Amino acid sequence: MSGPVIELIGARKTYHSGDLEFEALRGIDLQVHEGEYLAIMGPSGSGKSTLMNILGCLDVLTDGEYRLGGEDVSQLSEAALAQVRNRRIGFVFQQFHLLPSLSALRNVELPLVYGGIGRAERHDRAVAALSKVGLEQRLHNRPGELSGGQQQRVAVARALVGEPTMILADEPTGNLDSTSTDDVLGLFDELNDAGRTIVLITHEHDVARRAERVALVRDGQITESAEVAA
Ligand SMILES: Nc1ncnc2c1ncn2[C@@H]1O[C@H](COP(=O)(O)OP(=O)(O)O)[C@@H](O)[C@H]1O
Ligand SMILES: [Mg+2]
Repeated sequence: MSGPVIELIGARKTYHSGDLEFEALRGIDLQVHEGEYLAIMGPSGSGKSTLMNILGCLDVLTDGEYRLGGEDVSQLSEAALAQVRNRRIGFVFQQFHLLPSLSALRNVELPLVYGGIGRAERHDRAVAALSKVGLEQRLHNRPGELSGGQQQRVAVARALVGEPTMILADEPTGNLDSTSTDDVLGLFDELNDAGRTIVLITHEHDVARRAERVALVRDGQITESAEVAA
């Protein structure tokens, strides 16, 4: 595939509540190339989560265009968007979002269940993903039996297991101590070195510095985009 993995062209998002309108994204142009590691920063209320929801196909634009892997996903139905999410995007959230009653292994298998992958292959791929994040000894533990850092590594394994086009992380270290933060950021470094595209949303400069490029969002617009010095 040539061209960017992500392309936003004049992206606008307006929220309506009653008679009030609020323009949360006000004409964003953004390209992310295959294998790039981009951090998105900005103050609270600037539109970061709105942008993340758009990039993750969890919501659609009011105006403008979103092309993901060369496919125009701006006008897709809810069902079609769900398919695109499952096929192309691995999510990592601040709150981990693991299912508490399922083992690490079952949590990581879940996206493959939705993807219609058979039992044996599901198992093997989930074990491989958990091994990649250093949790091969924790396959059968539930989230409550794991530390915060380990839970986030399970979430990274779950994000990886479907071989997504990109990993989209919203404040993935927001609930972690500094050691676990280093662990998770180290994993992202490895994934990126292996060619994965990563988009990471954070308000921490130390975290953003790990990316190759930082884009600054302010009042629903990208006001700055700069390479991070090596
Ligand atoms: N569902 C919604 N309805 C109305 N306004 C919203 C909604 N979601 C977000 N907003 C508004 O859009 C702006 C951007 O929000 P958000 O994307 O969550 O910012 P950030 O993640 O940078 O803090 C904020 O002013 C917020 O109040
Ligand atoms: Mg937010």
